[in-house]
Amino acid sequence: MTKRYPNGFVAVDDLHIDVPKGSLLGLLGPSGCGKTTTLRMVAGLVPIEEGHLVVDGQELSAAPPHRRDIGLVFQNYALFPHMTVGENVAFGLEMRGVPRSEIRARVDEALEMVRLPGYRDRKPREMSGGQQQRVSLARALVIRPRLLLLDEPLSNLDAKLRDEMRVEIREIQQRLGITSVFVTHDQVEALTMCDVVGVMNKGRLAQLGSPDDIYERPASMFVAEFVGRINKLPCEIVAGDRVRLAGTVCRSAAHDLPEGRGIAAIRPHRIHLTAARDPNLVGNSTNAVKGIVRTVTYIGDIVQYDVEIAEGVLLKIEQHTQGSGLHHNTGDEVLCEWAPRDMLIFGRDDA
Ligand SMILES: Nc1ncnc2c1ncn2[C@@H]1O[C@H](COP(=O)(O)OP(=O)(O)OP(=O)(O)O)[C@@H](O)[C@H]1O
Ligand SMILES: [Mg+2]
Repeated sequence: MTKRYPNGFVAVDDLHIDVPKGSLLGLLGPSGCGKTTTLRMVAGLVPIEEGHLVVDGQELSAAPPHRRDIGLVFQNYALFPHMTVGENVAFGLEMRGVPRSEIRARVDEALEMVRLPGYRDRKPREMSGGQQQRVSLARALVIRPRLLLLDEPLSNLDAKLRDEMRVEIREIQQRLGITSVFVTHDQVEALTMCDVVGVMNKGRLAQLGSPDDIYERPASMFVAEFVGRINKLPCEIVAGDRVRLAGTVCRSAAHDLPEGRGIAAIRPHRIHLTAARDPNLVGNSTNAVKGIVRTVTYIGDIVQYDVEIAEGVLLKIEQHTQGSGLHHNTGDEVLCEWAPRDMLIFGRDDA
């Protein structure tokens, strides 16, 4: 699908994604990259002028929203405030002409599913944000949709509730085996909940893969940076898998690199920090670079260090804290070690 807005702006650019039946696809990307536009095209709220939507072999590009059998959950819940929970959930069934006798049972079933049995006579304003979001999930599920679309459903919830709802949505999605698309700009949500993740950048698909692929084998620096913290350091590609970084020759995960300038990317928690010792004593299957600790930030479960490995070149390192509370101090000389597989190299163009 491609979406060109009337002002000529291309919000979604030749996006092609196959979502396997029963799986949860995460659409991840920065603000404005076209996630909501994509979802709205699938739902039928934005017309598909270029491209196709095919569900179960059936072309739905031109079908009106209510013919698509799609359940939608939005960030702001979008519940009708003057209606009770039961009326909100029943709404879609009434629109579809489901008999009254059946509606009550299906509403109860949907409220049960989202763990809100007995709430049917409440008004949305009498409920917490998390409960309102459950109601909107029940409203989407009650029509027994063949596709469930969720647009940042958790972003209005506090951190703890978000964790709970993540697990719960995933559990319901798997139990019902319902093919779903989950839009988020939160990498944790995408990696923890989804079977497949599509990372979007400026309307295009930057990478499509399993959470592990996206995190461990990012296709570009953009993806690497978007799905977690990463050190990004200029380097010189020497030959094969070798790069010169801060004056030291290191080995990387890449093979047959073209010589020239590149960017090395290493995740902070994949670097191991030890007290300074002779780098030659470190096995040659490990990269080792000397440095001086410049800042130490204690966070509780981890300590973050900025280590200067060459003049003006800082390496961010994260280590889990130990019960003993021992860690390195500002000014300490240290050795930074990491495995070649943990160093990704990108050409200047991919950065
Ligand atoms: N009606 C419109 N006319 C022109 N441009 C639009 C219109 N609606 C959205 N856009 C632009 O299309 C781009 C994609 O918008 P979209 O809402 O899909 O982004 P998003 O990825 O959902 O972002 P967010 O994370 O902020 O919700 C944005 O740059 C936006 O400004
Ligand atoms: Mg959006």
